Amino acid sequence: MDIFPISLKLQQQPCLIVGGGHIAYRKAVLLAKAGAVIHVIAPEIESNLLEIVESSQGQYVQAPFSLDIQLRNYRLVIAATNDKAVNIQVFEACEAEKILVNSVDDPPHCRFMVPAIIDRSPLVVSIATNGTSPVLSRQIRTQLEATIPHGMGKLADFSGQWRASVKAKIINPDERRIFWEDLYASPLKEHVFNDNIAEANRLIEQALLEWKTPKGEVYLVGAGPGDPELLTLKALRLMQQADVIIYDRLVSPAILELCRRDADKIYVGKARSNHSVPQEGINALLVEYAAQGKRVCRLKGGDPFIFGRGGEEIQELFAAGVAFQVVPGITAASGCSAYAGIPLTHRDYAQSVRFLTGHLKEGSPELPWKELVYENQTLVLYMGLVGLEKICAQLIAHGQRPNMPVALISKGTTPEQKVVVGTLADIASKVSEYQIQAPTLTIIGEVVSLREQLQWQG
Ligand SMILES: C[S@@+](CC[C@H](N)C(=O)[O-])C[C@H]1O[C@@H](n2cnc3c(N)ncnc32)[C@H](O)[C@@H]1O
Repeated sequence: MDIFPISLKLQQQPCLIVGGGHIAYRKAVLLAKAGAVIHVIAPEIESNLLEIVESSQGQYVQAPFSLDIQLRNYRLVIAATNDKAVNIQVFEACEAEKILVNSVDDPPHCRFMVPAIIDRSPLVVSIATNGTSPVLSRQIRTQLEATIPHGMGKLADFSGQWRASVKAKIINPDERRIFWEDLYASPLKEHVFNDNIAEANRLIEQALLEWKTPKGEVYLVGAGPGDPELLTLKALRLMQQADVIIYDRLVSPAILELCRRDADKIYVGKARSNHSVPQEGINALLVEYAAQGKRVCRLKGGDPFIFGRGGEEIQELFAAGVAFQVVPGITAASGCSAYAGIPLTHRDYAQSVRFLTGHLKEGSPELPWKELVYENQTLVLYMGLVGLEKICAQLIAHGQRPNMPVALISKGTTPEQKVVVGTLADIASKVSEYQIQAPTLTIIGEVVSLREQLQWQG
């Protein structure tokens, strides 16, 4: 993070704008909204800017900027002239005095930036790009404007009025957060939006009266194969409300970024034959945190019920009497095949598809080989990289043609996705040639040949 966002309280604080034209006026409007006392120094001033200066109880000094000005009298300074050299002079003078300074449209000469703002006072959302793209900030602001109801400011005010009472009644901060989250998800919000404050007050009083320490719960959430945009809405919502996130190796950093920032994040690993926390330990962790009343998000790559041991985890929760929810995710077979341009079924090539684990017990394949050698069937192998050579050899030995197309999709749906196509006879030799790394999904079947036409990703 190259910039540190803060929210400044500027009511009654003297702020200086250097420049008297339209750019200065736009900044003055914002400062005035924040209650600042606005002073302007410039040889000339536009009448609308002068009005703002006067109504904020500030002063207009009709003069060019000079180093004699006592910058220490101001909380912050904005250099808004149309002369870049003057703006730089203002910047340097402020830096020498350690006064916060912004030179309009000149990021290298800014100590602070003015973000794009969504004003639902007292709720204020600011969006900044460290001066790299004001247009992008504005575009995001437009999107957010549409999604944050105008009544949000009233809700923030309402919450502020109740904050002390809620704090006095619910001492534990985690519980207090759950209280507010539940409240914001209840009809109370609509009453506040519609100015029905009496009813909103009644509801919050009742909720406080009936408040009980919440029971813990576990959300078993499928995070999909890697691209964060493949998360379901429900997954995202639960990831953002959980107190604890227990995640494994297949959960991409980009997805982890979307979890609640202050949630405890616990890595439980699980690379092949390197289980940072063994399965029994993970099960115990889930039960333990839930018993503490926490909302636990067990975040797993792909879908929790497809080669994800999700079933075992919820059996344990069931036995311990812990409440749980299961959120399906896009499994690697769906995500990787889509991003590789390989439809798993196709009227002309495959009427069925089988998901198999290639994780070989004690190194020897235990798959129903005979059932796997039909022509019009697609095979999808999870965890098949290590045993690939043996698996291909077995399929050929059981009658599959050696030139049957095979695709390896490594790190599918992520920016590092790599797809290598070959045949049953030669695919194993391509693993080291193309430096294919885990996680890799293997697709075997005639549908693989469609990639030539349907490929739309790297
Ligand atoms: C333990 S299984 C978990 C599967 C997961 N529950 C799912 O539904 O996708 C791990 C295997 O899934 C496959 N896999 C998961 N994510 C993948 C990805 N982004 N690209 C390629 N293969 C992936 C690999 O075959 C990997 O060895």
